[in-house]
Amino acid sequence: MRRILVVHGPNLNLLGTRQPEIYGTVTLAEIDAAIERAAQERNAEVRTYQSNSEGALIDALHEARSWADAVIINAGAYTHYSYAIADALAAVNLPAVEVHLSNIYARDQWRRHSVLAPVVTGSICGFGPRGYILALDAVLDLMNDK
Ligand code: DQA
Repeated sequence: MRRILVVHGPNLNLLGTRQPEIYGTVTLAEIDAAIERAAQERNAEVRTYQSNSEGALIDALHEARSWADAVIINAGAYTHYSYAIADALAAVNLPAVEVHLSNIYARDQWRRHSVLAPVVTGSICGFGPRGYILALDAVLDLMNDK
């Protein structure tokens, strides 16, 4: 059974009420439940984790080494400037998908750059919560191909 760690970064705990015109009204708990359901249907196991703190996100990635086969990460605003999270993803060296609910290329200029992009397998953005399920299918397909 494939094991996937799903990591949510800062402010994503506020989904549901946070700028609903951009992020929608689905809560993080609902997103996590949908990911867990989808994982079960695909005979995979997921752990979901959210933190607002950079160090805690890095610790979660380090712990993935002993458990996960792949990582799905929405690092929130850390996406745009956290070299520490980029280094952690590179160090852990697992297949990884970067997810963003919004289309980061259609918003502020500073959101258009991801420092994580060079160290992940691929990125999915702009599809709302569905992006996590697309990411799950992407990493599972990728691992089955290998
Ligand atoms: C986000 C996009 C980021 O620019 C932003 O800082 C977030 C959420 C997204 O899911 O669309 O917190 O990662």
